[in-house]
Amino acid sequence: MIPREIIDEICYRCDIEDVISSYVTLKRAGSNRNGLCPFHSEKSPSFTVFPATKSFYCFGCGAGGDVITFIQKIENLDYVGSLEFLAARAGISIPNDTAYMEKETVSRKRVYEMNLEAAKFFRNCLFDPVLGTEGMTYLAQRRGMSGAVIKRFGLGFAPNDFTMLTKHMRQRGYTEEELIAAFLCGRSQKTGRLFDLFRNRIIFPVIDTAGNIVAFGGRVMDDSKPKYLNSSDTPGFKKSRVLFGLNYAKAHCAEQMILCEGYMDAIAMHAAGFENAVATLGTAITQEHARLLSRYTKRVLINYDSDEAGQKAANKAMALLDEVGLEVRVLKLTGAKDADEYIRTYGSDAFRSIIEQSRTAFDFKLENVLARHDISGADGKIRAARELAEIIATVHSGVERELYVATAAERLGVSKEGLANDVRRNRSRAVKKIKEKESKEALLSARNFGDRINPDAAKDPAAAAAEDAILGLLLLYPEHRKSVLSGQTVLENEDFFTDFGRRVFEAVMKMEASEGGFVFSAMGQFFHADEMGRMMRLTKEREKLQTNDEAVLASAVASLRQSRQKREARQSGDWQSEIARRRAEMKKKQDV
Ligand code: CTP
Ligand code: MN
Repeated sequence: MIPREIIDEICYRCDIEDVISSYVTLKRAGSNRNGLCPFHSEKSPSFTVFPATKSFYCFGCGAGGDVITFIQKIENLDYVGSLEFLAARAGISIPNDTAYMEKETVSRKRVYEMNLEAAKFFRNCLFDPVLGTEGMTYLAQRRGMSGAVIKRFGLGFAPNDFTMLTKHMRQRGYTEEELIAAFLCGRSQKTGRLFDLFRNRIIFPVIDTAGNIVAFGGRVMDDSKPKYLNSSDTPGFKKSRVLFGLNYAKAHCAEQMILCEGYMDAIAMHAAGFENAVATLGTAITQEHARLLSRYTKRVLINYDSDEAGQKAANKAMALLDEVGLEVRVLKLTGAKDADEYIRTYGSDAFRSIIEQSRTAFDFKLENVLARHDISGADGKIRAARELAEIIATVHSGVERELYVATAAERLGVSKEGLANDVRRNRSRAVKKIKEKESKEALLSARNFGDRINPDAAKDPAAAAAEDAILGLLLLYPEHRKSVLSGQTVLENEDFFTDFGRRVFEAVMKMEASEGGFVFSAMGQFFHADEMGRMMRLTKEREKLQTNDEAVLASAVASLRQSRQKREARQSGDWQSEIARRRAEMKKKQDV
């Protein structure tokens, strides 16, 4: 257990409103604050901070908890990592007692430590005059990379050997399980022995904004397949929320950032002086990436490959980035497949002027529509106008819509008034559609959320509802906790039928009985951030109700007890008594 004083002090020193304000723009709403939820996409604020209870809850997606949970979610940290993060922010030092630190089998910290060791190994191999010749020649001659750039990005080389890294890491004391969990080694099905996963590849370490090496990408030096091998998700790494190069770009990106798809593109841009470039890691951009970007910059320049796949991906990126409120522009490269090739062929000045000519997302779509229709004839013109009216209708700002109408009308050779009318007609439909999509997404995520957190609930909704009521009451009111602790209200672990419910009950009561008593924040060390959100939901649902007194608790307990009896009767196969009980029940109803 983490010493209570530490949790208390952190919660005391890290004002929740203050902390959340550095991620979310909050507005006053009565005694609370609200803003756009950083955990799901929305246009109207359902994310609420409750300063009085030092908690937050999103009525859209169900994320919720205290300041520690918030940091866990937004910084992608575990409970201890989040405590450390907040402690550093508040200037509190917390004892480095590893006894309570880690509950994951292989901790994030340990993975980072292994990665650092492996990165050093790969780098030494690249700079080794024998082992690294081929890799070094490839980087310097084929890719035109300077020694300084190679060092700045910590590039390395994995030798063409099955055991060198494994041996090296085993000598340093890392266990086989740890090496597998970190995606550095695999286990041979035939011999059962460990082998190096990265072999005969150029190594690109992926470094997060805190400076941890979280993953590796490895590229072959010829045309063999697969071209890249990437770490899969490990305890310290989720591909969908990391951007290559952000560790450097974060200092150069207040105005705009360049988003590309490849390690090589990002490095080439940095080398050419465009240090605001980042890349996704061999996956399409996700909502999480978009939100991450929106925390660092105002405008994103999409720089994807000029082939069809790249342009399709650009369309998707545009939509996701727009959803989080980023201004989006699109780079158009001609005469080269990607940024790396472009800079090598035409130089960085040419690239700079391309950046200056970057098109707005609207221009990109406009060109796209115009290219698909023959607007010299009336038919084509009408079809193009129809598509453009629909596109413009989805734009939020009225001023922007007006500007786009003017541009599009001119290009099409139609009247501004006519096109504006069409846009207006489409607008209310577009707004409705956006709202529907938002609430559908929120609902969906809330539902999945519920399923994932409390999968047993579906088996007996009535009992689950009783559990929810009881837990809400216990989480909220000290008098109810005391009543259970003293035995005045009889309630035990076995009364709960969902695993989640039982775990929450157990933790609440154990803590209530402990010296410091119950504190919601301390629950975080036993529960996942999403589970904390679920608990917040239970309290929010309870709070809304008028009466939450002893009688309410008693009736919820009674109904939970009843369903337990039914369940036990069913399980023991005691059908006769079950039938007798049901008869008695029916009779009672008839008598009334
Ligand atoms: N990628 C991957 N696996 C592959 C191919 C690509 O993970 N088999 C990812 C890599 O992150 C790569 C990005 O997709 O950087 C873009 O792919 P591609 O355009 O093919 O590679 P480049 O980055 O342009 O690499 P290079 O210039 O070295 O060919
Ligand atoms: Mn390339």
